[in-house]
Amino acid sequence: MKARAWLITLLGAWVLTQPSLAFSQNINGKNLFIQRCAMCHGADIKGTGPLARKSNPATPDLTTAAFKKRLHDYPGVIVSSVILRPNGDLIPRTLRENGVKLAPHAWTVQDFRDLNQYMSDVISSSR
Ligand code: HEC
Repeated sequence: MKARAWLITLLGAWVLTQPSLAFSQNINGKNLFIQRCAMCHGADIKGTGPLARKSNPATPDLTTAAFKKRLHDYPGVIVSSVILRPNGDLIPRTLRENGVKLAPHAWTVQDFRDLNQYMSDVISSSR
């Protein structure tokens, strides 16, 4: 019994010291972001991708306090940016004008969750 309690304590401590576990394992979210968003938003989500200055308007830094507040107040903002396309044909047009080919993607609910989680993690851990 004692050994078991000790093991549970150890495991608990281990889990607590692995804050980035879920983060680093969210490969699907990371891949989706890198393949479909980073060319504008940049791997750091600060608007540093090669096409960031080619879009009109320029691609914004999404790690600012202002965007963190927006994401906090409206947690659907990342997912809805993909589903509702509030900026119209801005993305396909910018890709087309710059000769970047992006295969269509059949988004699943899990993809949206993973992408949202990945971006939220990067945004909240960046300053
Ligand atoms: C062609 C460049 C480009 C690509 C590719 C792109 N974005 Fe954006 N994104 C922009 C620009 C430009 C804006 C600012 C739009 C505006 O101000 O109307 C933006 C804004 C956003 C915002 C902020 C929306 C808001 O209402 O505050 C989010 C979230 C976002 N993009 C997510 C994504 C995701 C997720 C992907 C990939 C699936 C992606 N973007 C791909 C250029 C891009």
